[in-house]
Amino acid sequence: MASQDELKSLAARKALEYVQENEYLGIGTGSTVRFFIEALAESGIKIKGAVSTSSQTSELMKKFGIPEVMLNEVNGLPVYIDGADEVNHLLQMIKGGGGALLNEKIVASAADQFICIADESKFVSRLGHVPLPVEVTPNARSLVARRLLKLGGEPNLRMGFTTDHGNLILDVTNLNLNEPMKMENAINNLPGVVDNGLFTERPADLLILACQDGVKVLTAHS
Ligand code: 5RP
Repeated sequence: MASQDELKSLAARKALEYVQENEYLGIGTGSTVRFFIEALAESGIKIKGAVSTSSQTSELMKKFGIPEVMLNEVNGLPVYIDGADEVNHLLQMIKGGGGALLNEKIVASAADQFICIADESKFVSRLGHVPLPVEVTPNARSLVARRLLKLGGEPNLRMGFTTDHGNLILDVTNLNLNEPMKMENAINNLPGVVDNGLFTERPADLLILACQDGVKVLTAHS
């Protein structure tokens, strides 16, 4: 039986097939992405440069010799590769376990194709088993927490953590995510919220899911 890390590595390696040579690439954040960065460096595939979504990813890219470009320097991004904390059959996701949700959402929105890489434990029938990260400006932390309580959630401040943008994260449990797109927008409409980890307005286009019985490539299905 393959370990979770082995499955993450299998999904990451499969994603190399979707990297376009001599083009720009978007790279997400997290442990699955780490396997992808290592595999990309080993593969010898030449890219023009990669847009990073976090200081953690930028450091790894530097370590593995992958040139970084800023999103503002590129006109388009053919492909973006990133992990997820949860993904459903519509390829909607909860992301932000690593706290990089804002950059991840920006880069995902800039990309023509968003490829999610994950091990089978991330695939769920319904989103909401993991807490939903909500990025807030520091001065609005308490205000937003009270509003999230009114939405039915239980917010918990992620202790000792500041985002790359100098903001805080509230990890919210118990939200009813039966209509995740409505919740994504309702939370983002709260003043003081910078963004939240629901990716329904911009779901993935392809899911590379590493399972015990093989690596599957899935598109959204109802
Ligand atoms: C970071 C993310 C990651 O994609 C998500 O947390 C999955 O991480 P991992 O690959 O380590 O399981 O959204 O903000």
